[in-house]
Amino acid sequence: MNTIEVKDNVFLLSTRNTSYFFYVNQYKHLEHLHYGCRVRIEDGEELALKRCLAYGATILYKEDPSYSLDQVAQEYGSYGRGDFKEASIELKDDASYTTEFLFDSYEIKDGEVRIPGLPSAYGADKTLIVHLKDEVRKLQLDLYYTIYPEEDVITRRAVLINQSSRKYLLHKLMSFCLDLYEDGLQMMDFCGAWDKETHVNLRDINRGTCSIGSRVGFSSAKQNPGFIVKRKDTNENYGKAWGFNLVYTGNHYSSVSKDEYGIHRIQGGISPERFVYELKKGASFETPEAVLTFSDKGLNDLSHHFHDFINRHIIRSDWKEKERPVLINSWEAFGMDFNKNKLVKLAKQGLSLGMELFVLDDGWFGRRSDDTKGLGDYDCNTKKIPGGIRSLSKEIHDLGMLFGIWVEPECINVDSRLYEKHPEYAIVEKDREMLFGRHQLLMDLTNPEVRDYIVQNVSDLIDKNKVDYIKWDMNRMMDGVSGVYSHEYIKGLYEVLDRVFTPRPHVLFESCSSGGNRFDLGMLCFSPQIWASDDTDPIERIDIQKGLSYLYPLSTVGAHVSASPHLQTLRQTPLETRFTISAYGCLGYELDLNLLSPVEKKEIKKQIAYYKKHRNTFQYGRFYRINEEEQYEQFEVSADETIVSKFRRIVHAAPIYDKLYALGLNDETMYEIVSRPYLHNIRQFGNLINFVLPVKIDANGHLMNEIGKRRGMDAAGQNYRASGAALRSGIYLNNLFLGSGFNDSLRIPLDYGSDMYEIKELKQ
Ligand code: GLA
Repeated sequence: MNTIEVKDNVFLLSTRNTSYFFYVNQYKHLEHLHYGCRVRIEDGEELALKRCLAYGATILYKEDPSYSLDQVAQEYGSYGRGDFKEASIELKDDASYTTEFLFDSYEIKDGEVRIPGLPSAYGADKTLIVHLKDEVRKLQLDLYYTIYPEEDVITRRAVLINQSSRKYLLHKLMSFCLDLYEDGLQMMDFCGAWDKETHVNLRDINRGTCSIGSRVGFSSAKQNPGFIVKRKDTNENYGKAWGFNLVYTGNHYSSVSKDEYGIHRIQGGISPERFVYELKKGASFETPEAVLTFSDKGLNDLSHHFHDFINRHIIRSDWKEKERPVLINSWEAFGMDFNKNKLVKLAKQGLSLGMELFVLDDGWFGRRSDDTKGLGDYDCNTKKIPGGIRSLSKEIHDLGMLFGIWVEPECINVDSRLYEKHPEYAIVEKDREMLFGRHQLLMDLTNPEVRDYIVQNVSDLIDKNKVDYIKWDMNRMMDGVSGVYSHEYIKGLYEVLDRVFTPRPHVLFESCSSGGNRFDLGMLCFSPQIWASDDTDPIERIDIQKGLSYLYPLSTVGAHVSASPHLQTLRQTPLETRFTISAYGCLGYELDLNLLSPVEKKEIKKQIAYYKKHRNTFQYGRFYRINEEEQYEQFEVSADETIVSKFRRIVHAAPIYDKLYALGLNDETMYEIVSRPYLHNIRQFGNLINFVLPVKIDANGHLMNEIGKRRGMDAAGQNYRASGAALRSGIYLNNLFLGSGFNDSLRIPLDYGSDMYEIKELKQ
């Protein structure tokens, strides 16, 4: 496929199913023509905005009665020459804010062009670089378009070069700008907070501006940098949608504005807030890379573009497209209250249930007995772990498990040996009382000495102790600094991550920031997976993981089974549901296995065996969100086999019928559908158990408790046969418990219950 066609200064960029189209018009402005389904280069004229006469009360360009920049769909909007839409570049010298960039030349390169100091995607087909010039101010603006044809992705970024002999103050330089005409659009973004990340936020785009952004120094749980613009009638499986994301971890800003003539200007990049960058003579500034994709087949298809792109062109290291181990993490098991014996016992129990990786979380170093102390120090607390990390790592390896450890290298407690020695490593605002976040301060990653300290200590920790997995956490927001400082910090972070992890591709790096405070493509360039949220309540996780799934593949999502009632909500949930949601991601367990009953242990063992058998499908299969029924969420992963799960929130008496849907199948093929066997906890049936037992027992008594620890009740085994077409339409499932009697084929729903179905081609 010829992915870049150029004819008479008309540029047509093509991917498998999409076209991105612009040209150089008679005034040398770069005019946008189309971003959507595949079109032909001959279509340019009719795809252009028609200009018979300019609207009233506009500023005409060169006295041309039909041309005002306010009414030109542009590739990059600027201020001062008649365009009153939000500009993508804002810079100033002593005299003026105006810029006007005219076409100068272009070049095409094979593959991608790396950005100095910033991570970016790799493995591209081609890159088009268009050079624009402002001759008055002696500035060059280079627009980069890099093409990933198979994934239907085009990435964009901008570079500003100061060719004058003076300096400029740069306030804003967006990574991309897209002027799009389409009626009836909505913006879908993914917002939240600690413990409730990436909830879908859908709003109509009316006149004015819808924007998202972050000012906490990081991409943030408040608003993920990824967003979607879609037509109102677009749903999961139908209609047009445009997806956007940034390969960036710092403060971001994106907006969609609708002007008075129906043009939407969509743009995104580094947040311009408090951003004043001195662009010295001869210097240049490079934006992070933006990722753009389009589908006219609905949101599931749009997500598949993102998923493939991330798995193939963002994730690095030996863990690229490799199955992730099932882990056991000590945090929700013990907090910081552990010793070596407890840890090894947890690992052994985990191993006996099928877990493969033991992760020692927070609390192992310095004076760390609670979260007020110790951050910054790397010496192991040998009172807790005699023999140090090395001996623990050896014991874990001798068991046959991988060994992982938690670090929080960007932060420092005042109560630490590092702070006593190097208070200047901390970011503090002079002349003001210090403010803490989780009792800690950020370290100054713009200081090369601080970066060296972190690289040295984390590298030593990995190498000397044969660490297989690192959970790199960061729990302090960045405050009281300029936008430029924040950006320099992020560049410092990228340098540190590059120096630690690029030479150690065997290490599985899971990034974390109070859960999902840094779930972004910048971090994913270094860490193949990210801890999605500190919230492990499975019902909350449905929304969090569903939100993430619009932008990120399941192989990147850390998801753990924890103890119920849950630490975050005090809700009680079935063990089956905790597993079911965690299976749609990188499965882990994070609870004290000592406290499990024999029957729970058996169940967990079966869960892990099932997950391992289908792990490649769960982590790398095609993921579909199925929103056909109001009372249920359905998730599907599909590869050579298909696994669909139904999540229920609240049970209702005399429930309505419900169906099972599957989307990733062949219409013509016949399939067998088998429910995953699991046990209900009999204690939840209370006195009802006396209806089936020969002797009467006290539902709250000791005997019931003891039976409940050892015996469960089989969930109804279900078996269906249907074609792919029937499953796409939905097949009826057995009745739910109706309150009118009981038999073996009834499904017992339970509040917060779930069911998982394996769908396989029927062998005739
Ligand atoms: C953060 C992380 C948790 C855990 C704790 C340890 O909150 O998100 O998963 O590691 O820190 O202090």
